[in-house]
Amino acid sequence: MKELAGKHIVLGLSGGVACYKSAELCRALIKEGATVQVVMTEAAAQFITPVTMQALSNRPVYGSQWDAREANNMPHINLSREADAILIAPCSADFVARLAQGRADELLSLLCLARPQERVPLLLAPAMNREMWAHPATQRNLAQVAQDGATVLAVGNGDQACGETGDGRMLEPAELLEEVIAFFTPKLLAGQKVLVTAGPTFESIDPVRGITNHSSGKMGFAIARAAREAGAEVTLVAGPVHLPTPRGVQRINVRSAQEMLAAAEPRAQQATVFIATAAVADWRPATQADQKIKKDGSGQTPVLGFVENPDILATVAQSPRARAGSLFCVGFAAESHDLLAHASAKRERKGVPLLVGNIGPATFGQDDNALLLVDATGHRELPRASKRTLARQLVAEIATRLPGRHA
Ligand code: C5P
Repeated sequence: MKELAGKHIVLGLSGGVACYKSAELCRALIKEGATVQVVMTEAAAQFITPVTMQALSNRPVYGSQWDAREANNMPHINLSREADAILIAPCSADFVARLAQGRADELLSLLCLARPQERVPLLLAPAMNREMWAHPATQRNLAQVAQDGATVLAVGNGDQACGETGDGRMLEPAELLEEVIAFFTPKLLAGQKVLVTAGPTFESIDPVRGITNHSSGKMGFAIARAAREAGAEVTLVAGPVHLPTPRGVQRINVRSAQEMLAAAEPRAQQATVFIATAAVADWRPATQADQKIKKDGSGQTPVLGFVENPDILATVAQSPRARAGSLFCVGFAAESHDLLAHASAKRERKGVPLLVGNIGPATFGQDDNALLLVDATGHRELPRASKRTLARQLVAEIATRLPGRHA
C-alpha cells in the first residue's frame, strides 16, 4: 500500500544543516507514491546542492522567481496551484519570520503567500539552534503562522550541529513521513479519546522467570497509530514489547495483567473508545518468589499454583460509562478454530458491542492478519491484509458506530 499515492507535494528547503535530512525525506515521500517538486532558497543551496535534490525527486529544482523555464514566468502561481500540500523542511527561524510577515521577495516565501489557502495546506518542520527556537521572537512568529493557518510540526530534542543540546532539531525523515501521512488521513475520530491495550502480559514466577505468550503487539500498535491519524487523542497501554511508539500516542508500559488493569481502568473513564487487543494472561502464579527458585539436585520440580487474572475488558465494559453508551468497547479474540462461534460467545460474555476475531497462531508476530467483526446483528470479514490496512479499516468501522454517527 503506497500511502501517498496521487499526492503532489512541494518540498521547500530553507537554510539549515538539517537540509541533509531533506534528501532522505524526498526519497521517503516518493517511495510512498507522492510526486515531489523541490523548491530551495538560496541559503538552502549552501547546505545541499539542487543537483542532489533534482536527482532524488526526478524533477528540476526551482530556486528563483525569475526562472525563465515557466512559460508565463510565474513559478509561484504554477507550483503552488499544482500542490496537494507544501511542506517546508527544514523551516529555518528566518523563514518562519518571513512567513509571519507575509514576505514575498524570494520564490519559496512568495509561493507560500500565493497558495490558495483553502485547498493547499502548509506544513512546517522547524529546524534551528535551541536558543533560536526558544527566543520569544521565534515563538511569536510560530504562533502567528499557526494562527494564519499553517500546521507547525513538532521539533526533536537532542544533539545539535552547533554542539549544543536541546529543542529545535528537525524531526527525522521517517517521523516527518508519518506526520505527512497522518495529515492526509480523514479525521474520522476527531474529538475522540481512544484507549488501546496491546501486547502480551508477563506474569512473574520469581525475579528471573515468568509466563507470557507470543503476542507481538503489532495489531494494537497499528490500531493506536490509525486512531491517532484519524484525529483521536490516543493512550496505549502496552505489555512488554519492543515496538516503537507511534507518533503522537501516549504510551504506558506495563508488565502484568494487574498492572495493565491498574493503568487502563482509570484511563478508560476518561476515554470514549476502548479497544482491548492485549493478549492478557488468563492466570498468574499464585505466589511470586522473592528470590530465584533454585534447582537443588534432588530431581524435585516446583509445583506452581495459579490464580485467575482480572478480566480488563469485562471490567471496563461493565463500568457505568460503558453501560450508558459513553464509552464504546471493542474486544479481540484470538482463537485457533471455530472463530465465529467462539467470537460470538465471547462478545456476549464480555458484554461488548463489537468483538474482533482472528486466528491466533496465524497472526502472532505476523505483519498481516484477517479479521472477523462480530456484533449483535451479525458478522463481517475484513479479508487478509497488512495489520496497518486492517487497523485503518477497523478505525473507520468503529467511527461509524459511535453515538451520533451513521454508517
Ligand atoms: O483472553 P480472551 O480470549 O478472553 O480475550 C478476549 C478479549 O478480552 C481481548 O480483547 C483481551 O484483550 C481481553 N482480555 C482482557 N483481560 C483479560 C483477558 C482478556 O482485557 N484478563
